[in-house]
This record gives sequence, C-alpha cells and structure tokens, in this order.
Amino acid sequence: MIRRVGVVGCGLMGAGIVEAAARSGYEVVVREINDALLAKGMGRLRGSLQRGVERGKLDEAGRDAALSRIQGTTALADLAGVNLVVEAILEQMDDKKALLRELDRLVAPEVVLASNTSSLSITEMAAATDRAERVVGLHFFNPVPVMPLVEIVRGLRTSDEVVGAMRGFAQSLGKTVVVARDTPGFIVNRLLIPYLLDAIRALELGVASREDIDSAITLGLGHPMGPLTLLDFVGLDTTYYIAEAMFAEFKDTRYASPPLLKQMVLAGWLGRKSKRGFYEYQ
Ligand code: 3HC
Repeated sequence: MIRRVGVVGCGLMGAGIVEAAARSGYEVVVREINDALLAKGMGRLRGSLQRGVERGKLDEAGRDAALSRIQGTTALADLAGVNLVVEAILEQMDDKKALLRELDRLVAPEVVLASNTSSLSITEMAAATDRAERVVGLHFFNPVPVMPLVEIVRGLRTSDEVVGAMRGFAQSLGKTVVVARDTPGFIVNRLLIPYLLDAIRALELGVASREDIDSAITLGLGHPMGPLTLLDFVGLDTTYYIAEAMFAEFKDTRYASPPLLKQMVLAGWLGRKSKRGFYEYQ
C-alpha cells in the first residue's frame, strides 16, 4: 500500500511529480541537494498549484491541502519511511546509480525504486542495487500536472508485480499508462528526439526562420508547440543529455546532437528556465 512517496530532485520534473502525487492525496517527502535548490523547487511547486487554482483545476482548500502534504528536505535520510521512491535527478548514469545504491540501503526492502529517466537504462540502474526486481522506470511528461501520460519502463529484471503496482500508482494520479521495454528513449523519446534534433538541423541549415519552423508544425500538423518552442520548454540541457545517451547506445546519427545544441548548452542558453533558448523570455 503506497501512502508516503519520496521524490528525489525538485527540478522541473521532480516538482511536477511531487505536485501530482500531493494533489492525489499522497504524503510526499521531496529532497533537493541544498537549501537554495529546495527553495527554488518549492517556489515552482507553489506557482504551479496557484496556476491550477486560477484555471479552476483545484480550489484554494485543495491547494493548501496539497501543500500541507509536502515535506521538503535536504537530507536523504528523511525518505527512510516512504513506500515508494521516484528519482528525478539529472540524467547522469553514475549519479543515478550512486543514489539508488544509497536508497537501497535506506528504505525498506519491499519499497519500489522508480526512475523518471528519459533515456537511461533501468536494467543498468537496477544492477547497482540488491533489489533489481523492484527497480522500474516511471517516466512522466512536462508539465506533469497537465500531461496525461506515464511510460512504465520494464527493466530486464523488473517483476510483473512491480509493473502492476506502478500502473496502479500512475492511474491513481489520473494518468494513462503505456509500458515499454528498457530501450533508450522508450517510446516517446525514441520518436521525439530525432524530430527535435532535425528541427535544430533545419535551423542550422537556414531552411527557414525559427518562427516559420514552429508555425509549420503547429499549423501544418496541429501540434500544440513547434519543435523549437518545445525544445525551450523541455530544456536544451535535458534534450542534449538524452540525445547523448541515445547516441551512445545506438551509434546512430539520427540521435547525434547538432553542434548548435551543444554550443547553446555550453553558453547557458537552456531554454525557458534560463530565459534564453531558441527564443528569449522575460
Ligand atoms: N495545474 C493543472 N492544470 C493546468 C495547470 C496546472 N498548473 N496549468 C495548465 N493547466 C491546464 C489548463 O487548465 C488547461 O486545461 P483545459 O484544457 O482543461 O482548460 C490545459 O492545462 C492547458 O493549459 P493552458 O491553456 O494554460 O496552456 P496551453 O493551451 O498553452 O497548453 C501545454 C500548454 C499543455 C504545455 C501545451 O502547449 C502542450 O501540450 N505542449 C506540449 C508539451 C509536451 O509536448 N510535453 C512533453 C515534452 S517531452 C517530455 O516531457 C519528456 C522528456 O523526457 C523530454
């Protein structure tokens, strides 16, 4: 029975997962690595809950109740009593493995360790623990409170029972579940990443302006956002990490990061979160 959820990382995705869980009645303990990042993440969470109120998705009492169920911390040890952990830290395999190893020692043996990774191997992460059957991918989409999908990623050793439990958990957050094998990018990013990288290549080649590339896709294909707007929304650093991980695995140039993407990441132009990406933000 899942009642208390631990979330590690309170960035864009972590904060969204915390919000979705707290709004669905779970007690949530969220851990960031320092006070400044925790304050930033909690600010993001409060802002999103407030937008939910403004858009009539929840009332003020619901917002306050959700907030009261969230405990922020910088101490991983505070996750000791949770019934499920979802990690949403940076897309770096070594960091994820080190974290899972620590969590493996910290939480009860029956607790599922889920990763919100977008592209890294669940099987490899699981191998860093003594509970490979209870390690699973739980991939949410940005903005988490709005996007209705969760991809469950089944590592080679993930048990049927754990897949079933995660299906129940995701559904309890109001999400629809798809299940994918543990292959880089799973379903969504396997299709999304080559498309986003091609949009950058089209811009690099001078095929069209950024505005026209985006308009072509929103108006011509009915997507809610054009690819360059979506890149700014997802984060250029995140996209770069995902592309690098997929290229490392497949050695297929479809997943090779265009030079412009790497340069923008190095320049600190990460999209909306840094107020500059393919577009400028106030
Ligand atoms: N809480 C609850 N609901 C909210 C909310 C919040 N904080 N903020 C917005 N909403 C609701 C609104 O009420 C509205 O619902 P309604 O249709 O029932 O009225 C709906 O969300 C849309 O909100 P808005 O009207 O304010 O905004 P837009 O219509 O401009 O849509 C968007 C914004 C949902 C972000 C839309 O542009 C979109 O779908 N973009 C594409 C996003 C996408 O592709 N995400 C996936 C990225 S890939 C990923 O995450 C995977 C990773 O691994 C890379």
